[in-house]
Amino acid sequence: MERVMAAAARRVGVPGRGCGRGGARGYRAALCAELAKPLLVRDVPSPPLQPQQVRVGVHYCGLNFADILACQGLYQEKHTLPFTPGMEFSGTVTETGEGVSAVKAGCRVVGVTAGAAMAQQCVVHQKMLWQIPGGVSHEAAAALPVAYGTAALLLRRRARVQPGETVLVTAGAGATGLAVIDLAVNVFKAKVIAAAGSDAKCELALKSGASHSVNYSQSSLRDEVMRLTDGRGADVAVEAVGGDIFKAALQSLAWEGRIVVIGFAGGKIPSIPANLLLLKNVSAMGMYWSRYQKENFPVFSSTISSVLEYCQEGKIHPNVGAIFKLEEVNEAFNHVLQRRSTGKVIISMK
Ligand SMILES: NC(=O)c1ccc[n+]([C@@H]2O[C@H](COP(=O)([O-])OP(=O)(O)OC[C@H]3O[C@@H](n4cnc5c(N)ncnc54)[C@H](OP(=O)(O)O)[C@@H]3O)[C@@H](O)[C@H]2O)c1
Repeated sequence: MERVMAAAARRVGVPGRGCGRGGARGYRAALCAELAKPLLVRDVPSPPLQPQQVRVGVHYCGLNFADILACQGLYQEKHTLPFTPGMEFSGTVTETGEGVSAVKAGCRVVGVTAGAAMAQQCVVHQKMLWQIPGGVSHEAAAALPVAYGTAALLLRRRARVQPGETVLVTAGAGATGLAVIDLAVNVFKAKVIAAAGSDAKCELALKSGASHSVNYSQSSLRDEVMRLTDGRGADVAVEAVGGDIFKAALQSLAWEGRIVVIGFAGGKIPSIPANLLLLKNVSAMGMYWSRYQKENFPVFSSTISSVLEYCQEGKIHPNVGAIFKLEEVNEAFNHVLQRRSTGKVIISMK
């Protein structure tokens, strides 16, 4: 059993425990002082608030594969050392700067930042905060922005998934994979074939709404998808692993299928054989969630609002697979890196 406060996949959606941590005078934060080395946890001074900024006492920070890549120096966006990782969090507003009207002290919020959320406090511009609706817990809220934001945007804006279509998702029991299943099935009314690296992960994907699963460490992904779709193939593939899995997912598509590249968790960036696009009139596209923040903020923001709303309405059920304390941040990173995680891993600041 991992050293986690709450292990095993569990669905959350009810209010969590109390709030109000982190004063304005100094706080504990995870620090990446050297790339590809264990993180440190240190006391750091609180910065003064600038106009439009809000200080939030963080309850939970979502851990993303991107945080791990950033701390290894392998992420597309580079940070200056030392830095605190963490791009999404839930918490309670403790202080507001001049000109802040969107929130006030005591508000329960979910927030997004370019980094620095893996800490007891986080300072962000007011537009990077969304109020957590009643009935949605801090745990669930911290699991939403990246995984569900990515899943919602790729299904709606990139792949344009239609009711009844079949969506194949790789790393299907991971944070983003389960979010794709949840939204594809419960909001987009599609069918999902989940592909994952173990029988236990396949089992979880099935319990989470997938119609079928494929353990790609044991079977041929392409052959299994073709068998499960009577030789037709999947309409959409959401691909997070890269390497040979990407190629197999591409070969698993139906006529006029769409493949959406979201990442390379396996470490190998694949090339696309153009003949495979031509043969079945296939479209290949990318999806980079955080880029929407700069390129189309209204869409970025409304997507986070909509997944919070779906959660409040009970349409979706974020799966928090493990909660680690801030002092256990290196165990949390290893948990994901060693492919032991399922669902969302979050870091607690309690
Ligand atoms: N483009 C975007 O905007 C965006 C947003 C969110 C996430 N992502 C990407 O989506 C992928 C999943 O991210 P996540 O945060 O949701 O993580 P995650 O899926 O919870 O964890 C990563 C999973 O990737 C699979 N994997 C395959 N080979 C691996 C390897 N060599 N090392 C580690 N994991 C490996 C494992 O699942 P199996 O054992 O089942 O293979 C593992 O559980 C990542 O590539 C991430 O960069 C992209």
